[in-house]
Amino acid sequence: MSITPIGQPCPKITTASLHDKKHRHEPITCLTAYDYPSARLVDEAGIDVILVGDSLAQVMLGYESTLPVTMDEMLHHTRAVRRAVKHALLIADMPYGSYHVDENEALRNAARLVKEGGAEAVKIEGGEKRAELIRRVIEAEIPVAGHIGLTPQSVNVMGGYKVQGKTLGAIEQLMRDAVALDKAGVACLYLEGIPREVAAMITAEIETPTIGIGAGRECDGQVLVFHDLLGLTFGTPAKFVRRYADVGAVITGAVQAYRDDVVAGRYPSDGESYHLPRETQATLETIAERKQAMRR
Ligand code: KIV
Repeated sequence: MSITPIGQPCPKITTASLHDKKHRHEPITCLTAYDYPSARLVDEAGIDVILVGDSLAQVMLGYESTLPVTMDEMLHHTRAVRRAVKHALLIADMPYGSYHVDENEALRNAARLVKEGGAEAVKIEGGEKRAELIRRVIEAEIPVAGHIGLTPQSVNVMGGYKVQGKTLGAIEQLMRDAVALDKAGVACLYLEGIPREVAAMITAEIETPTIGIGAGRECDGQVLVFHDLLGLTFGTPAKFVRRYADVGAVITGAVQAYRDDVVAGRYPSDGESYHLPRETQATLETIAERKQAMRR
């Protein structure tokens, strides 16, 4: 396994790099990012793939689900991330409604994410039934990431955020979905919320690199939501989330310390204040003294 030492420039990751990594059995790393500072930190840490996920609807915008986020909102966040990313492959989610109505509109929206957002690939949820559309998007020179299993845009059809692929019938369908997307030529396939054993079977069966979230360690790569990893989301995290830091608690502590300092008059100190040049100060003092003398 080749790991670029910290401080060395990383090579640019492309869709071809993901296939190379699968064949070399090198795990692919992926994180979400929705804005400039988080994308810079993730990119500079050497993560392979940055996903501007439609999870930003919940994480950044406070919606209950991913369904309300619009094309314009996805573009706004993708552009900010684009300005930060130098090394990682940048994938942007196609939001709900942007590819469900008609294929031409889907192509136009995919092209907007590339042309206006600077994405290098787009992600589309759904298996077999999306294979034809995905083929057309790829023919328009836009790499596509597939996404099957617990697909959050289908929350109302699934009846909640439930682990998928638990019965033999469901496993067969997932396998058909994976094979259809593999044949369609997706650049990678996100596997979300499925049993580890099923993700392992899919990963072994297809050429396409798989990237798992709640799908066990046999996937070719892993993705987490940046804010989950840092403890910046509210409520109980899902079983698969590992919190690497409690940044939420660090932020709360810092904000409370600032508030206490302002209330107690400790902030800003003299060292944190600007001062007049000595000559201007002397002139002001002379003027004040003259005024004082005239009043006497
Ligand atoms: O929107 C998102 O963050 C995603 C990942 C969880 C795969 O689709």
